[in-house]
Amino acid sequence: MSVKLWGGRFSGKTDPLMEAFNASLPFDKRLWRVDILGSQAYAKALARTGLLTSAEAEAIIAGLEAVAGEWAEGRFTTTAGDEDIHTANERRLTELIGEVAGKLHTGRSRNDQIATDMRLWLRKEIALLRRYLHGLIGVAVERAAAEIDLLMPGYTHLQPAQPVRWSHWLLAHVWSWQRDAERLDELQRRVNQLPLGSGALAGNPFAIDRAFLAQELDFAGVTANSMDSVSDRDFVAEFLFWATLTMIHLSRLAEDLIIYSSREFGFVSLADAYSTGSSLMPQKKNPDSMELLRGKSGRVFGDLSGLLMTMKGLPTTYNKDLQEDKEPLFDAVDTLAGSLQIAAGVLSTLTVNAGRMAQSLVPEMLSTDLAEYLVRKGVPFRETHHIAGAAVRMAEDLHISLTALSVDQLRTLHPAFAADVIEVWDYQRSVDQRDAEGGSSRRAVSVQIEALQAWLAAGADGASIGA
Ligand code: ARG
Repeated sequence: MSVKLWGGRFSGKTDPLMEAFNASLPFDKRLWRVDILGSQAYAKALARTGLLTSAEAEAIIAGLEAVAGEWAEGRFTTTAGDEDIHTANERRLTELIGEVAGKLHTGRSRNDQIATDMRLWLRKEIALLRRYLHGLIGVAVERAAAEIDLLMPGYTHLQPAQPVRWSHWLLAHVWSWQRDAERLDELQRRVNQLPLGSGALAGNPFAIDRAFLAQELDFAGVTANSMDSVSDRDFVAEFLFWATLTMIHLSRLAEDLIIYSSREFGFVSLADAYSTGSSLMPQKKNPDSMELLRGKSGRVFGDLSGLLMTMKGLPTTYNKDLQEDKEPLFDAVDTLAGSLQIAAGVLSTLTVNAGRMAQSLVPEMLSTDLAEYLVRKGVPFRETHHIAGAAVRMAEDLHISLTALSVDQLRTLHPAFAADVIEVWDYQRSVDQRDAEGGSSRRAVSVQIEALQAWLAAGADGASIGA
């Protein structure tokens, strides 16, 4: 039977089922590196209080380095009593350097330790995700710049609405990701606060220099209240919300691309690298990458909702329920890392069928332009809307295209129609008339591209924290 870290007050044995139920090592071993880093900083801080001699601190720090080496090389052997990553590392440290290892945990609790580990770990993952997001935005902006001349139907209610630039559609997604990047930078600042030195809940009794700890571990500051420090998993919830919203954005891109790559639309074709075939139907090329992005958005929302349920109603400070924060966090980080890279891969390799997009522009999509033509002649918009509708109906009744209506036929609907109405039947012109800021004109889309290029060049500020 293994010796428990907290075994002093216990006489009975732990039920083996309980032992397994209680253990977090199978998943929290991912935290081995940050757990070692936190402990090394803590050993230094203890030495500054005089509780460790500098020789003892050095022995502990070197011993921890040796433990880290075992993890890094896959040589770390866990034992049955290793409840979590903290216990496992301390047990191994004791084996390597002897009883001086027992001084490391002075004034520290696994409660401030795990809160620290989680922040250290997440901070680094956020920096990586931020770079993937940056990469995705970069790929999309480049495409938008290169393909700015292509027009496509824009949809509302998935019904053909008005012509737009393909780049405008692409940038619509990019802006949602740019906001995701901003949100990630904002929450990174809240992750980047150090809880170490809070003890179990009431604070550290040995005048540990928390500012020194923050400096050692490169945190922007220390958390303000020890009870809050060990209770707080807001940073996990916030990250999971970020992850969920980002996945929802990717899912909406995916849905568009699934539709646009269907045979019926045929606007785009996904590269073979991101498609798969059917085991039964030889002709099939399925957009599995996109379907998985859509599907995994549900999974990440599950991570968020699960954690929020875990947090709800917990009494103040640490409760073991909080051990349930790890698996959803790890799952979301892994899912986002994969999804962001796949989305970038898909976007950089898909081919656009400009011909199919152009052929899908239909004259009815210019009926708003017809109404606007009359507006420019001084007719009130409410009236022009009605008149343009009547023109659509007239063309339908005559079984001809809207653009085939003669000026005389149009004049039966309103005397303001003149020979120049012919200029309305031009998709390019229609798009370029939407020239106010944020519109689909060549100029307005170029403004967006330049703004995003400048933003990309300014760099990823959250990516530098903890990287
Ligand atoms: N494995 C625990 C967790 O992940 C570490 C903290 C344990 N603290 C305690 N008082 N039992 O939350």
